[in-house]
Amino acid sequence: MNDPHAALLAKAAAAMNEPLPEVPAEAIASMVARHVARAESYLALVRRHGSPLYVLDRQALRDRARRFSDAFAAAMGRPTRVYYAMKSNNCPDVAAVMVACGLGLDVSSGRELQVALDLPAESIIFSGPGKTDAELALAVGHAGRVTILIDSFSELARLEALASARGATVRAGVRLTVDPRGFWRKFGIPLADLGRFFDEADRCGHVDLRGLQFHTSWNLRPSAQTDFLGQLGRTLRALPARQVSALEFVDIGGGYWPESGEWLQTAATPAGTLRHMLSADALPDPRRWWKAGTPIEDFAAALAAAAAEHLPLEGATICLEPGRWLCNDGMHLLMRVVDRKAPDLVITDAGTNAVGWERFETDFFPVVNLTRPALAEQACDVHGCLCTPHDIWGYAYWGESIAPGDVLLVPSQGAYTYSLRQDFIKPIPPVVPLDAAE
Ligand SMILES: Cc1ncc(COP(=O)(O)O)c(C=O)c1O
Repeated sequence: MNDPHAALLAKAAAAMNEPLPEVPAEAIASMVARHVARAESYLALVRRHGSPLYVLDRQALRDRARRFSDAFAAAMGRPTRVYYAMKSNNCPDVAAVMVACGLGLDVSSGRELQVALDLPAESIIFSGPGKTDAELALAVGHAGRVTILIDSFSELARLEALASARGATVRAGVRLTVDPRGFWRKFGIPLADLGRFFDEADRCGHVDLRGLQFHTSWNLRPSAQTDFLGQLGRTLRALPARQVSALEFVDIGGGYWPESGEWLQTAATPAGTLRHMLSADALPDPRRWWKAGTPIEDFAAALAAAAAEHLPLEGATICLEPGRWLCNDGMHLLMRVVDRKAPDLVITDAGTNAVGWERFETDFFPVVNLTRPALAEQACDVHGCLCTPHDIWGYAYWGESIAPGDVLLVPSQGAYTYSLRQDFIKPIPPVVPLDAAE
């Protein structure tokens, strides 16, 4: 084939016919019904606090924390420790619930570390690239509570110098890059350099290297994590037993996608993206597409089997850093309809600055009319109030009809929305706990 575009065109043709299934209608209906059943509590919050609001569902957070911890504790057959990844929702009240449930906290900046210390969290891991000296010094100053997950050789050297200057010894791990050539190569050190890192750490009298960390993102199933455990096992078996047996923990990161899977608008599918690039959009496509997820118990079983097969570290604690899986269902957005410009076009008093990105152009979540509830979907562009057409909540609502003053709910906005909220045009809504209304 001489045409350089032929292979790409063939790929594009295959993508246009991509056989993604649609989100099961009953899955959407059961989510809507769950929230309609609590409509009175949500409406009471709006009466008391106005709108828009972030609603914090602490019981949902507790339920998730318990289910996640129980799944891994039961499957692993060795000690486990769960650290909530604060970046996924940095509301201190969310972290406080996790700490009260017995979880540790995973922080990625000095700012998050300070919040965790103030809560106070007793067990904190500090991971992330580009930690500054000031951030490392804060961690060293609380060495009894903080384990530092070192990101590079130069960070190891800086940490040793800072700890030595303070006469402290810090417990540490090293992050391993899961993709030495690709998008994720900025994180950690390559597996091929682990032996050299162990040797370097042996020369650092103030850094007590006790663990390994890796993280793969956006896992709808556990294969990326189990594959890396295989690579890690092969690497560890080739390294000196003295250094390997000093390891007390292996942190297998976060990235567990909620079991409901990804619910996508057509624009987020390969076919939809291609149509958009070619300006070939015909009528808007109301269908929603589904990338299925995996129950957390199945993740736990697969990861336990991979750890047992590959890791030559029988007694080591398995640490986990879930974010999205824990907080996704722990926060919802409440807003009111301000304007009905046409039967199929309304404007709300919340803007998508509350989620920080144009999420609903690609991701699908039902918009539930709590004032006129019905398990029926009505086509309607539900826009926010920002001066940009990208400010949209959805292309339909669930309810009998819609009118100014109606209270709408966008559920499950707990992960990577609140943390990304923007001070843009409209104020950021306050957070109110749902239990205050019940
Ligand atoms: C190192 C690390 N751990 C944990 C997480 C949490 O991931 P998730 O919210 O997908 O579980 C992230 C997210 O980016 C991360 O970078």
